[in-house]
Amino acid sequence: MALPDSFIQELISRNDIESVVSSYVRMKRRGRNLVGLCPFHGEKTPSFTLYPDTESFYCFGCGAGGDVITFIKRIENLDYIDAVRFLADRAGMKMPEDTRDDAVSRLRLRILEANREAARFFHSCLYSPTGKEGLEYYYKRGYTDHTIRHFGLGYAPDDFHILRDYLRKKGYRDEELTAAFLCKKSASGHLYDIFRHRVIIPIIDIRGNVIAFGGRVLDDSKPKYLNSGDTLAFKKTNNLFALNFAKSRAGDGLILCEGYMDVIALHQAGFTNAVAALGTSFTAEHARLIARYASTVTLVFDADAAGQKGTKRAIDLLRDTGVDIRVITIPDGKDPDEFIRLHGPERFKLLMERAANDVEYRLIELGRRYSLDTADGRVLYLKEAAGLLAGLSSPIERDVYAGKLAQELSVSKEALLSQVESRRRQQAKKQQERQLSQIVRQSDDVQRRINPEAQKHPRAVSAEEALLGMLILHPDYIEAASQVLPPEEFVTSFNRRLYERLLERHRNGLLIELAFLASDFSEEEMGSITRMVREARERVSSREEVVRCADVIRKEHQLLALEQPERLSEEDIRKLLEAMRDKKS
Ligand code: GTP
Ligand code: MN
Repeated sequence: MALPDSFIQELISRNDIESVVSSYVRMKRRGRNLVGLCPFHGEKTPSFTLYPDTESFYCFGCGAGGDVITFIKRIENLDYIDAVRFLADRAGMKMPEDTRDDAVSRLRLRILEANREAARFFHSCLYSPTGKEGLEYYYKRGYTDHTIRHFGLGYAPDDFHILRDYLRKKGYRDEELTAAFLCKKSASGHLYDIFRHRVIIPIIDIRGNVIAFGGRVLDDSKPKYLNSGDTLAFKKTNNLFALNFAKSRAGDGLILCEGYMDVIALHQAGFTNAVAALGTSFTAEHARLIARYASTVTLVFDADAAGQKGTKRAIDLLRDTGVDIRVITIPDGKDPDEFIRLHGPERFKLLMERAANDVEYRLIELGRRYSLDTADGRVLYLKEAAGLLAGLSSPIERDVYAGKLAQELSVSKEALLSQVESRRRQQAKKQQERQLSQIVRQSDDVQRRINPEAQKHPRAVSAEEALLGMLILHPDYIEAASQVLPPEEFVTSFNRRLYERLLERHRNGLLIELAFLASDFSEEEMGSITRMVREARERVSSREEVVRCADVIRKEHQLLALEQPERLSEEDIRKLLEAMRDKKS
């Protein structure tokens, strides 16, 4: 579905890229541009750049790039139309009519409706004779009827077809039920329910849509949990359980747990700012989501080895977003749910108040591994601790913790700090080397995917890219280019497609700007195109340059045409001969 140019133009002028990006990434001015830490890959030194004059962004680290719409597509994980709708909402603009009329959006809506029906169905089972077992399970866990209603908890009966038949009767088609991850097709082609004989926890997004389900067995059988797979309405790595309730309390900070059962127990005990990732390990996307709502997050993972590993991972990812991190270690019991059941909310509140910040937490963890009553143990511990402090970006933090440690272990603070600084220099150097090799590797990868022919034709490609970058930066040269170079002479097909798009817009008297390409090119392609524009800015642009590039491209094209005959297959030759015979007769 094509949106009118005038609409897109108003959209981008009302959603200034600088303010849109700044609401996700802390940007610092550098000359004419702004730089910040790339939200699309992990990095410690900023390579994510905003160019206000071309209203574009580009990351030197991972090659992500594009206009404001591409940015929203990536960061909010939306398709093109939904990204446009998102920005329209942001700017208080009304979408042109029937943009919903697109098959994917329609299916997505159907999935959401089917999910809502399913959630109602599961919930009503709970209070019917079939659901007795489920209700007892919840009561055994200490859930009240109020909690059950609040979270819309339910029960899926031990039956392969009950939900399928119910939803079919409501008019849902089989493809819709499989797309919603409610039903599956067996090898023999029969549709059956995925969630059976489990208590069911609906996953609800911040808009109140039922986007997925989690199901837990009633006993000790395996797998303990079954969660919806990704669908058009749900992406695991992009959602946090109970954020719909917690978001209004996020001003007090969020509590992050491992399991959604922990979250329910915490909410029932009054900690309604608790959330959890869904049946997956914590990701950078989760971290960004948390940072968008809260400035403090308290991690309350299980006390077992897996929980501690998860805590470390979450700390690393959350640190990159700049939120304040606090960590609770549950003294006994294995998770927050059990702790509250055992000791009550008051004791949990005390734990919260005494939560260590993440540096303290890591120092304590580290201290456990060494025997600090021996000199050797202390030396080893200090070495490791210096490495940890070296990872802190704030000099004040480094100073404070070095002071604390020095006092605890009675060593000189200056000696410790100089150790920390030398570790910092080592780490910075390693980091730089890693980033450099990553840049080279990633941009190679992206290039190969987007323009697979590029490697074979380096000369042609650099001329094509130089030309295209120049034309987007200076659309007034397009007329000149179109006169000297028809698209057929482009050597690589990706670049030819881009050139054709530019010529077409030019012919129709339409504006040339990155944002107008976002509907025709993928996010990765937009990154590549933005790179061309960025590189063009660093060179001289002129009509003569246009002609020079066109010459190179034409020559390369001719050379290739000369080589062609050698590449004819036997099949081609046979066809050619036949064609010649046909002509003669
Ligand atoms: P309870 O035994 O019900 O108290 O579980 P818990 O809340 O203590 O959960 P646990 O610590 O076992 O797991 C934490 C989270 O990991 C769960 O909420 C699930 O999201 C996920 N998880 C655990 N077991 C499984 C499993 O077998 N399959 C899947 N897909 N996810 C699981
Ligand atoms: Mn538990």
